[in-house]
Amino acid sequence: MLCCDLPARVTIVEVGLRDGLQAEKVIVPTETKLALARGLIAAGIRHLELTSFVSPRAVPQLADAEALLARLGRPDGVEITALVPNAKGAERALRAGVDGMVVFLSASESHNRKNLNRSIAESLADVAEVARLGAAANVPVHAALSVVFGCPFEGEVPTEKVVALARELFALGIRRLSLGDTTGMATPALVRARVEALRAALPELELVLHFHNTRGVGLVNAWVGLELGITRFESSIGGLGGCPFAPGATGNICTEDLVYLLQESGIETGIDLERLIAVAQEAERAIGRPLPGQVMKAGPRLKLHPLDAVATAKG
Ligand code: COA
Ligand code: ZN
Repeated sequence: MLCCDLPARVTIVEVGLRDGLQAEKVIVPTETKLALARGLIAAGIRHLELTSFVSPRAVPQLADAEALLARLGRPDGVEITALVPNAKGAERALRAGVDGMVVFLSASESHNRKNLNRSIAESLADVAEVARLGAAANVPVHAALSVVFGCPFEGEVPTEKVVALARELFALGIRRLSLGDTTGMATPALVRARVEALRAALPELELVLHFHNTRGVGLVNAWVGLELGITRFESSIGGLGGCPFAPGATGNICTEDLVYLLQESGIETGIDLERLIAVAQEAERAIGRPLPGQVMKAGPRLKLHPLDAVATAKG
């Protein structure tokens, strides 16, 4: 165990099939997504953000949302969630039988317009409708806020703006909010500032952290989250990922790398690292290009190699 007060257990929400695939231009067959989802579940993933019920014109990769859910069914003990932008998305998600919906909007006006073709005020009206539909169907509605740590179009996003939006979401019934670092602009100092400000303003709001490793500090930011007592993190198998409506967006923090870090720090995840690595390798084959995950290449810490695997250096 480590010295400081880290959580004993952390929940990992796998977002690779949604955030990971949404920016991939080549359409991944539903069958392949299904195999990856099953592999993730077999490796111990219990929270799967499977897809989005968005416009298929906006994100063609996720146009098979209904088919994927129908094929996967409702695996025992697994929470299947999906992103929804509006009432139409919520109706589709509820018909398809999700366990929870994640309604989303951005902390900057420009990114909200790019991503949702609406103002933030209009998106808040959509959140209200989604919340109402979820409550009527008895399906939880959580929220995800994009560009919380900086916007690729507007630059700094003031903490006060994030807090004000979180207050509006809370008033609409949202009790769990994912803080999205869409283009990897978060830093340890910013993570601390945002989390502390949100907690002071809304102590009953559960915070989830969603980092991208765009600038190489994704896991460092996650570690700061752990030190702050956050117990729910979103990550992506193999480090897949990126927002198609944000320039420079690259992969999420990588699930195997995060699991490796947590396990080696004595933090329970319920996930089998070796099996997870096998799924990451499968995802890499499915995408057809190297993924950024590192533990999937190096293996677990004590993976040993035969002595004759490399030549001896001789002068
Ligand atoms: N699912 C499927 N179709 C949808 C939809 C949904 N959730 N919401 C709207 N549509 C359809 C409408 O029915 C309409 O179809 P029609 O032209 O055949 O009648 C069409 O999309 C336009 O509807 P409108 O409400 O005017 O949407 P828009 O063009 O303003 O786009 C969104 C708004 C939210 C639908 C679109 O921007 C979107 O899907 N964004 C998601 C982006 C995303 O997923 N980003 C990555 C996640 S961070
Ligand atoms: Zn993301």
